[in-house]
Amino acid sequence: MKSVLDFKKGQHKITMLTCYDYWSARLLNDSPVDCILVGDSGAMVMHGYPDTVAATSELMALHTRAVKLGAPDRFVIGDMPFLSFRGSLDRALDCVMQLMQAGAQAVKLEGAAGHLPLVKHLTESGVPVMGHLGLTPQSVHALGGFKVQAKTEQQAQRLKKDAQDLQAAGCFALVLECVPTQVAKEVTEQLDIPTIGIGAGPHCDGQVLVLQDMLGAQTHFKPKFVRHFADLAGTIKQAVNHFNEEVQSGAFPSPQESYA
Ligand code: KIV
Repeated sequence: MKSVLDFKKGQHKITMLTCYDYWSARLLNDSPVDCILVGDSGAMVMHGYPDTVAATSELMALHTRAVKLGAPDRFVIGDMPFLSFRGSLDRALDCVMQLMQAGAQAVKLEGAAGHLPLVKHLTESGVPVMGHLGLTPQSVHALGGFKVQAKTEQQAQRLKKDAQDLQAAGCFALVLECVPTQVAKEVTEQLDIPTIGIGAGPHCDGQVLVLQDMLGAQTHFKPKFVRHFADLAGTIKQAVNHFNEEVQSGAFPSPQESYA
């Protein structure tokens, strides 16, 4: 299993996929991807909420446990959900404890301002922390939607400062979501820790996608940065139709699929 010490710049590109359940985790366990993110995007992908605000610590711990059971050999990162790290230190630690005891090897949290002391406290307590800047979906209502961030010089400077601060507070890696390619390149060049991009262009030290997006399993919404590496929705529809036809025609189950 990879460890936090393997997250280095300049070796191979880091690959990360989201995962929320046991059976797809089993598939990822046998894959070459470096790490699995149990993202709070699970609230949308698995539960149908319009954003990630609905995710709770309990929900994230439940998904993390299922993923770790399916992927015991993978480095698993658990997402700290909406506001779980903005209240008291006790509440934040309770969430971290739930995620780590469910099997995560690290936690991820969005943003920088206001919780740098928490990041420092966690890293000093032996908890690896991944940062997340740019489009931080938990702030979707303040950002006015899922939009590209850091488009102005001032916003780009702020992002660079936040990235430096998160690195100084002890983060071992940083997700950059939906920022212009040039900004992601400059942030990547200025940091000693690796950046992992999603909608942040090719210059990041690694890439992350939502599993169901890259598999083409959910097709109702396709941001510009998503590439479908498969047509899982098509494959599933075809298989379900085929099953239905074979049952209707009596071709399924055959004698070989029945007990004498
Ligand atoms: O929750 C998530 O899936 C994420 C990725 C978009 C990085 O945070």
